[in-house]
Amino acid sequence: MKKLLGPSGSLFLQRLQWIFDPISYLENAEAQFPDIFQANSLGFGGASGDVILTSHPHALQQLLTSDRKQFSTPGAMNAILKPLLGDASVIMIEGDRHRKRRQLVMPSFHGERLKAYGDLIIDITHKVLQTIPAGQAFLARDITQTISLEVIFQTVFGFREGENSGRIKTLLTAMADLFRSPLTSSFLFFPSLQKDLGPWSPWGKFVRQRQELNQLLYAAIAERRANPDPSRTDILSMLLEARDEAGEPMTDQELRDELMTLLFAGHETTATVMAWALYWLHYKPDTKTQLLAELDSLDPQADWMKINRLPYLNAVCNETMRIHPVAMLTFPRQVEEEVEMLGYTLKPGTVIMGAMYLTHQREDLYPNHTEFKPDRFLERQYSPYEFIPFGGGARRCLGEALAQFEMKLVLATIMSYYQLALLDSRPEKPRRRGVTLAPTRGVKMVMQGNRLRPTSVLEKDLVPTS
Ligand code: HEM
Repeated sequence: MKKLLGPSGSLFLQRLQWIFDPISYLENAEAQFPDIFQANSLGFGGASGDVILTSHPHALQQLLTSDRKQFSTPGAMNAILKPLLGDASVIMIEGDRHRKRRQLVMPSFHGERLKAYGDLIIDITHKVLQTIPAGQAFLARDITQTISLEVIFQTVFGFREGENSGRIKTLLTAMADLFRSPLTSSFLFFPSLQKDLGPWSPWGKFVRQRQELNQLLYAAIAERRANPDPSRTDILSMLLEARDEAGEPMTDQELRDELMTLLFAGHETTATVMAWALYWLHYKPDTKTQLLAELDSLDPQADWMKINRLPYLNAVCNETMRIHPVAMLTFPRQVEEEVEMLGYTLKPGTVIMGAMYLTHQREDLYPNHTEFKPDRFLERQYSPYEFIPFGGGARRCLGEALAQFEMKLVLATIMSYYQLALLDSRPEKPRRRGVTLAPTRGVKMVMQGNRLRPTSVLEKDLVPTS
């Protein structure tokens, strides 16, 4: 039986490379040990100490179709996110409790519920874009974050939020910002750095912001408990109504942790993808021309469900997530019973993760993989283990449908109605932002003004920018 190998040398130095330059870490390892390799420096505290990464679609299929049998999805291994999300979030729990929590939250981001958000997303996009006067420079990542935060805020809390909502959003943005660079992301990877050295120290500031945010979230929960309103369809109302088998409701701490999870996971990721899409559409003007031709061809009566089904827009979104997957790895899975994978024997206790970043750079799947080419998604149908930005199996992203719907409507609205240009001709590169990858410089752009387009249903929301 073959022995699994991985990068050699000091585990500590490898870990530093993983934190400060994760792309080099992954690409160097894959170049030496294609398809599957040992990555023990990543830690995760599995019973055997072994950590394996794989980019091969067959291995991903095997892993993600049996991650409730041969493999498990231990929530405790996601402890890196505990300072943000607490330990009762869907990401931290496991087994039956995890499966039930997913069933509870999932419907809010799918089907009919999703359709209700269409007008809202277009409305929010116009409102945010209209705050940028013609000639003004801005960072696309900031603008897309403002949009996605507002969208997730409305889906989680509903459309009638009280006076504290502005402060909650400010605190969420400030807390997420602590992890914006590889250096500050180290706080997550080295718990020993998580020291409160007073209100001006980075961690001290974070702890105080979290305390204030907790108070606001607990107050919102108490207010809703005191005034139940069966007509509300937002996620908080639904979580408040949920009962377990013993008829018990979720505790305040469980509710707080779930709200934090959905608010964070629900806006940081989508914001990054939308910023990258704006970057590529302006960096490769032929893709912009092709997209505008498709958007302008929509008949004036077209509604946003038609926008959602546009093939080239879909290809642009997919190619953006292909070339820049926000999440480099799936959450960890653990081998429960000895298993063969790609000719190797994996022992119980081995931790294994899908390396989506590497799968998306495979030349055998994506020829000229460094090129942004939306057409590849029109020319070929990729399997869910070849194109895998949202992971799969037992922990597949809960917000996938909302994220895809949102990014299409936001991009269609921005591209159809506003003229933007890149301010920096240098290529934008990805770098670590917490546990994700995001554009290093945030995609610097300038607002050139409104764009005239054939009349469509989107027109009704348009108010000219100054
Ligand atoms: C483009 C945007 C997004 C990307 C690329 C993304 C990606 C991912 C990935 C890769 C995972 C791990 C899957 C696995 O281990 O197999 C995940 C899990 C998750 N995502 Fe997303 N996500 C996005 C948007 C969202 C949104 C909008 C929400 C909430 C509304 C959300 C909520 C979650 C939650 C709660 C989990 C954990 C699921 C569990 O532990 O069972 N995500 N996401």
